[in-house]
Amino acid sequence: MNAIEVEGLAKDFRPAWHGPRVRALDGVTLQVREGEIMGLLGPNGSGKSTLLKIILGLLAPTAGVCRVFGVPSDLVAARLGVGYLPEAPDFCPQLTGFELVCYHARLGGAARRGLQERAGAVIAQAGLRNAMHRRVGTYSQGMRQRLGLALVLILEPRLVILDEPASGMDPGGVEEVGKLIKRLKAQGRTVLFSSHLLGQVEELCDRVVLLHRGRIVRQGSVDALTQRKRQVALLVDPLPDPGIEELDSWLRAHGSSLRGVETPRIGLDRVFRETVGDRNGGGNTPS
Ligand SMILES: Nc1ncnc2c1ncn2[C@@H]1O[C@H](COP(=O)(O)OP(=O)(O)OP(=O)(O)O)[C@@H](O)[C@H]1O
Ligand SMILES: [Mg+2]
Repeated sequence: MNAIEVEGLAKDFRPAWHGPRVRALDGVTLQVREGEIMGLLGPNGSGKSTLLKIILGLLAPTAGVCRVFGVPSDLVAARLGVGYLPEAPDFCPQLTGFELVCYHARLGGAARRGLQERAGAVIAQAGLRNAMHRRVGTYSQGMRQRLGLALVLILEPRLVILDEPASGMDPGGVEEVGKLIKRLKAQGRTVLFSSHLLGQVEELCDRVVLLHRGRIVRQGSVDALTQRKRQVALLVDPLPDPGIEELDSWLRAHGSSLRGVETPRIGLDRVFRETVGDRNGGGNTPS
């Protein structure tokens, strides 16, 4: 079954009252299958957030249709069981993170029994355990983003829509968001998320859609889009002397050629995480 079906979607905005229309989406058709992770890519202004808002029924399309688990997006029923993290979440600054998660859960119809334990657990999953009793107004941008994820998780949605979930997060946070998305998939949930972090999208997604100027310019499985079918990379440890020349002449003798030689690096990201380690708190603990 498809979790999301979008057909011939178009969206025009009129930024100024008498000004020209801006076509933010133009003939977008796509399906997201139940249980898969779909990544939405595209440059700034390509229409990602607009598409997500239309799927959620927060914006009306100019043309086309959109269904969530078979229910048209403009009906409130389509939003039942859908969790959404907006691109710049903003919350009531006076409440603590814990209070906000409990309040949100109650608004979403969650049972009171066991709520405090569940709220604590999702806040810890989102990496905010040490800051959950601080007022949200004191949170950093990345911490607000983590809180937004906790609000999504507490209602255990069947479909999770995240608009740049790792934006503003440190590398540890980016990795935690990745783990969280994988966990959601393992639980049988469907995840659609937009991102500019291409490495993470490549690692996590079953399929991706690439938007450009409101149109889908590429879509398919990550493997199909990224594989260079005829090329193979070998990792040699250590390279014998005079290795490369002999390898190259052997390859030439067999009708092939050596396309490049690189020394692999572990990546600054790994250096950062290995040095700074686990964080679940946001902020120093005063001594
Ligand atoms: N409320 C609005 N009023 C007028 N124009 C809008 C509105 N929302 C979006 N647009 C326009 O629609 C286009 C697509 O915007 P959108 O926010 O969907 O892009 P995006 O792909 O999410 O970009 P980003 O990567 O920066 O988040 C842009 O040209 C934007 O200016
Ligand atoms: Mg956006």
